[in-house]
Amino acid sequence: MRLEGKAITASVNLTGNHASPDEADKQVLHIWGRQPLAGHVKVSGAKNAALVVMTGALLCSGDCRLRNVPVLADVKRMGQILSALGVKLTQNGDVLDLNARDISTSEAPYELVSQLRASFFAIGPLLARLGVAKIPLPGGCAIGARPVELHVRGLQAMGADVQIDHGIVNAYVTGPNRRLKGAKIYLDYPSVGATETLMMAATLADGETTIENAAQEPEVLDLANFCNSMGAKITGAGTKTITISGVEQLHSTDYSIIPDRIEAGTFLVAGAITRGDIIVGPVIPDHLTAVIAKLRAIGAKVTAEGTNQLRIVGAPQHTGTDIETLPYPGFPTDMQAQFMALLTLSEGNSVISETVFENRLRHVAELNRMGADIRVKGNHAIIRGVPFLSGAPVVATDLRASAALVLAGLAAQGKTTIQQLQHLDRGYESLEDKLRGLGAKLVRSLADAEPDASLVSQAIAVQSTLN
Ligand code: EPZ
Repeated sequence: MRLEGKAITASVNLTGNHASPDEADKQVLHIWGRQPLAGHVKVSGAKNAALVVMTGALLCSGDCRLRNVPVLADVKRMGQILSALGVKLTQNGDVLDLNARDISTSEAPYELVSQLRASFFAIGPLLARLGVAKIPLPGGCAIGARPVELHVRGLQAMGADVQIDHGIVNAYVTGPNRRLKGAKIYLDYPSVGATETLMMAATLADGETTIENAAQEPEVLDLANFCNSMGAKITGAGTKTITISGVEQLHSTDYSIIPDRIEAGTFLVAGAITRGDIIVGPVIPDHLTAVIAKLRAIGAKVTAEGTNQLRIVGAPQHTGTDIETLPYPGFPTDMQAQFMALLTLSEGNSVISETVFENRLRHVAELNRMGADIRVKGNHAIIRGVPFLSGAPVVATDLRASAALVLAGLAAQGKTTIQQLQHLDRGYESLEDKLRGLGAKLVRSLADAEPDASLVSQAIAVQSTLN
C-alpha cells in the first residue's frame, strides 16, 4: 500500500536523560579506581535492535508500541529523524509509541542522518511504503568509512533506481505500480545493516526475496520477529539464508525489544576487571557465547543465575588470550575495546585482531596513556599484560572506546578523567548510576570543575537509596 506524500507536522516528546551532545562535550567523568564491584545490575533494551525496529515501524500505517526501549541519545536522535518524515512518536520511560500512517516523502535531514548511521536503514521501509526515498549518505565515522553499497545493490536488485548525487541517495521504484519486486540477493559480506534494510524492503515487495550470506546477529532476528508481529512473512532470520514472502500491508503491533548483549558484556567485563562479583540481567546467554567463552578462558568465573541472568566473579589474576572479531556468532567487534581494557591487566601476551572495521583500535593510545603496553600492527593489537594501570586524563573517540576507558578507570590506581562523553551517552543508558549501584566511585562534572571524592560518596549514598 502506498501513501501519497503530504507534509505532516509531527508531535515528538521523546525524553532522554542525557545531556545534549553539546553539553556532554563540556563534561568529564571522574573515576576513582580499584573498587571491586558487587551486586546486581539491570540490562536495558538493545540499542542496535531498538534503532532498526524504529525504522521498521515505517512499514506499518497503524500504531506500533515498542517496549524495553533504552533511553539513549541515539534513540532520541532516531525519533527526531522519524518525526521529520512525518511519524508521530511519544516515549514514556522505556515505552515508545509510533504511528507512521501519514509519512511524507522522505527528506531525512542531513544534519541528523550524518550523526546516526542507523537512520540510513530507513531507506528500505520508505521505498517499500512510498516507492521513493531520499536519504543522505550516512558518511564515515571514527571507526571506518561505513560504505552502503551492499544496501544499494540489494535495493537495485529489487527494482529500485538508485542514484547518489551530492551526498544524497535518491531512490525510487520503477516497477509496475511502483512496488518493489522479490529478488535473490547475495551479500558479499554479512553486513548487519544491509541485511536489515533489505529484509524490511522485502516485507512489502511483490513476490519472494532470499538474502544469502545474511548477517546472523540477534538484532537481525529481533527485527524479523518485530516485522512478523506486524504480519510479515520472514523465515530463516538468525541464519545465513533469510526468505521473505512479500505481503500487501502490515498491521499494528506491540513488541518488546531484546536485552542489550553488548551492554551486558560490558558489565561482565566490569565485574572481571575490578575482580568483583556481580549479577547481570536480564540477558539471553546464547547471545553472549563468544564473550563468555573468552572470559572463562582468561580465568574469570561465569555462571548462569536462573534463566536470564549471569554471574561473574573476577579472578585474582587473569591470563592473556587471543581474540579475533568476526560476524556473529564470532566474537563481537562491539566488545573488542572493552575486552582489550581487561587484557591490558591479564598476565602474559594477548593479540586482538579487528577484522570487521578498518579503524577500530583508536582506544589503544588512550589505554597506553594509563600505563598499558599495547602495540598496533595493521589491524592487530599486541598486548603485554602489566601489573596495574594508572589513572590519567583521557579522551573518548567513539562509543565502545569510551566504555573501554571507563572499564580501565574502574581498575586503575588513582583518578581517571574522561572527556568527550557524548560518545558514551549514545549507547549506554544511565551507565554512571548503574556502576555506582555496584559500588563504583565515579561522578560526572563540568570540565572546569574539580570534584573531590566526598562528592562521590554523596552520589553513592543517594544511589543506594534509589536501588
Ligand atoms: C551494525 O553496524 C551495528 N550498528 C554496529 O554497532 C556493529 O558494530 C556492526 O553492525 C557490526 O556488528 C547498528 O546496528 C546501528 P555492518 P552496520 O554493515 O550495520 C562493511 C555500536 O557500537 N560494509 O555489519 O553499519 C562495513 O564498512 C555499533 O553499537 C560494507 O563494506 O555494520 C564494515 O567494515 C558500531 N558495505 C563491515 O561491513 C556495506 O554496504 C560491517 O558493517 C555495508 C557494510
